[in-house]
Amino acid sequence: MAILSERTIVLLFFLSSLIIHGSPKPTLLYSFCTENSNYVPNSTYQSSLNVLLTSLSSDATILNGRKFHNTTAGQAPDMVYGLYLCRGDVTDAVCQDCVQTASQEILTKCPNRKEALSWYDQCMLRYSNRSIFSIMEERPMLTMSNSLDMDDPDRFDQIVNKTMVGLIEKATHNSSERDMFETGEANFNASTKIYGLVQCTPDLSGSNCSTCLENIFSRITNCCLGKQGARILVPSCNFRYELYPFYGDLAAATPPAPAPSPLSLLSPPGKKGNSSQLLIAIIVPVAGTLIISGFLCYCWLNRKRKAKKKYSSTEEEKVENDITTVQSLQFDFGTLEAATNNFSDDNKIGEGGFGDVYKGTLSSGKEIAIKRLSRSSAQGAVEFKNEVVLVAKLQHRNLVRLLGFCLEGEEKILVYEYVPNKSLDCFLFDPDKQGQLDWSRRYKIIGGIARGILYLHEDSQLKVIHRDLKASNVLLDGDMNPKISDFGMARIFGGDQTRGSTKRVVGTYGYMSPEYAMRGHFSAKSDVYSFGVLVLEIISGKKISHFYESDQTEDLLGYAWKLWRDGTPLELMDPIMRDSYARNEVIRCIHMGLLCVQEDPDDRPSMASVVLMLSSYSVTLPLPQQPAFFIGSGTQSGFPIKAESDQSTSKSTPWSVNETSISELYPR
Ligand SMILES: *[C@@H]1O[C@H](CO)[C@@H](O)[C@H](O)[C@H]1NC(C)=O
Ligand SMILES: *[C@@H]1O[C@H](CO)[C@@H](O)[C@H](O)[C@H]1NC(C)=O
Ligand SMILES: *[C@@H]1O[C@H](CO)[C@@H](O)[C@H](O)[C@H]1NC(C)=O
Ligand SMILES: *[C@@H]1O[C@H](CO)[C@@H](O)[C@H](O)[C@H]1NC(C)=O
Ligand SMILES: *[C@@H]1O[C@H](CO)[C@@H](O)[C@H](O)[C@H]1NC(C)=O
Ligand SMILES: *[C@@H]1O[C@H](CO)[C@@H](O)[C@H](O)[C@H]1NC(C)=O
Ligand SMILES: *[C@@H]1O[C@H](CO)[C@@H](O)[C@H](O)[C@H]1NC(C)=O
Repeated sequence: MAILSERTIVLLFFLSSLIIHGSPKPTLLYSFCTENSNYVPNSTYQSSLNVLLTSLSSDATILNGRKFHNTTAGQAPDMVYGLYLCRGDVTDAVCQDCVQTASQEILTKCPNRKEALSWYDQCMLRYSNRSIFSIMEERPMLTMSNSLDMDDPDRFDQIVNKTMVGLIEKATHNSSERDMFETGEANFNASTKIYGLVQCTPDLSGSNCSTCLENIFSRITNCCLGKQGARILVPSCNFRYELYPFYGDLAAATPPAPAPSPLSLLSPPGKKGNSSQLLIAIIVPVAGTLIISGFLCYCWLNRKRKAKKKYSSTEEEKVENDITTVQSLQFDFGTLEAATNNFSDDNKIGEGGFGDVYKGTLSSGKEIAIKRLSRSSAQGAVEFKNEVVLVAKLQHRNLVRLLGFCLEGEEKILVYEYVPNKSLDCFLFDPDKQGQLDWSRRYKIIGGIARGILYLHEDSQLKVIHRDLKASNVLLDGDMNPKISDFGMARIFGGDQTRGSTKRVVGTYGYMSPEYAMRGHFSAKSDVYSFGVLVLEIISGKKISHFYESDQTEDLLGYAWKLWRDGTPLELMDPIMRDSYARNEVIRCIHMGLLCVQEDPDDRPSMASVVLMLSSYSVTLPLPQQPAFFIGSGTQSGFPIKAESDQSTSKSTPWSVNETSISELYPR
């Protein structure tokens, strides 16, 4: 696995330019947390890191026009190197605000990582356990492209090329005097200008800066030719160009040329022509094996169900009958240690952003799944208990039951019902197992998931939005009934379900609705979106990310939409099911799936309507609009491209919640 020294991951999603642009608050573009670089909580490294971040953010208070600072904290081997870079045109106050926000947020975005980097619209913050000063680094790479096409791409690209090459020259030539930053504009036609920006970290030499910018600029041929704007960021340099001013006073004074409401921003070209969408590709280097292993579906193996059948009834009944009290839900740490053989690696069945998951066997023989939350949970003990009690009350045959918790010292642990089969993705996307899911089985799974989500949204006492519904969060029991896992994690982990937006985006790219991915706005309709993606995956047997890997020019949603529009929806179907299926059901499910992934949340059906659509043929479905994430451009073959989610589905267990690279893209 280690043979592959560098791999890249590309995530594609759209981002509206308004987000980057209109908000005075620091706007997080992306946090990259280096995999496999965890430090031990409470270690010397952690204290060095805290000192470093404090020092960086306090340095930002005495900027005096300086946009860059590097510093270190601690002693080898626990020395931490850190730096920040503010966009060259922002004021000291904005820079300071951005660096302070970044130093706080990076700890929650990348808990316990020895190396991390956060890109905001206004600044970059970066730290590492190795020296990162004066070294040109071009990985990880964040690529964003405006998805609107130019009418006259050849001429446009020529002018862009000339403009940007000129800016690079200017920025790097007089590098001692300049901050390795340059902006400029060029006329495209009488009424339209092209605005450009380039910047390097000023610790580079001029020639290194120039190399860095030239290298990343040459990447536009892979992503962005013919597009109205593009932006590529790597640790050492970045550039951007658009048809509207996005820097300096101009940005503040002029609204972005297209200044539609936030929602219409997401509309695909053609539907509402005014919007400015960005296609983002995030190219992440791979420090090692995690990603490769990500593609191997580490499923739950050798699950024995007999023990559960034999022993479980008494304890489960107890839980059911006496659920309201905290005591009845509390597990003793010693019990869980014993059940998991001291949290031995052999018992580990998963790893996710919220923590590791172990399989345990109680002394009674009852099998349980134990999620040991990583310690970065901000939640206090009382709050934690309260949330667990609430979430434990959510009981439905299509939900994995939360049996209890353990709270001891720093430890926060959740105890779940053990579900013997693997997660849905292990069947759906495995050529050897796909065959086990025939149409009627898949249809039932779709219905089960819909009812589980409906319960969370409407039928339970508290309204819960899942926020990370995806194939790997749907477990299958012995009879292949779907059970949704990981609901309520936002609550338990210290989120706020009642507010309609959040700093902590916990979803998975591809499954996240545009409004959630970009602005952190979540609602029941963002779950509906994820459900729609899941339905299309179930029907097609293809991952939402699948299409990025091939030469196809659109993603799963775009593909499904096109087939639908062309009147050949059945071609979407997994060929393995072609022999026996109910035509009406399949078409209806595709129809419903497309309704769920529409861009405007108001256009998407509620889960109640979805359940109705599935159960009654008399309901007439409206015609779907083109899906939100309609990706019109292909990705180039140079990258072994995978979608984010695969990364931490890696040790993939049904339990993992992906927070690694993808999640948490946008704060509020
Ligand atoms: C940084 O941390 C990683 C992960 O723990 C380790 O493999 C690497 O050797 C460290 N680098 C330095 C320079 O200490
Ligand atoms: C970890 O850090 C916390 C807070 O700084 C402290 O209270 C606790 O004693 C530490 N635990 C260990 C094992 O060092
Ligand atoms: C910042 O980086 C430069 C170049 O590597 C180095 O000489 C300088 O000591 C660094 N500053 C700090 C405070 O470490
Ligand atoms: C950067 O510049 C220095 C000299 O200024 C050079 O030695 C080095 O090779 C350059 N390249 C990188 C990748 O740092
Ligand atoms: C460098 O800057 C000086 C002063 O701003 C200017 O006169 C000179 O032409 C610049 N050199 C280049 C190569 O741009
Ligand atoms: C200039 O170019 C823009 C973008 O292609 C176009 O919308 C606009 O109509 C053009 N204006 C003129 C006067 O050609
Ligand atoms: C820019 O133009 C030069 C010269 O025409 C060409 O060699 C280069 O490939 C172009 N770069 C891009 C990114 O289009």
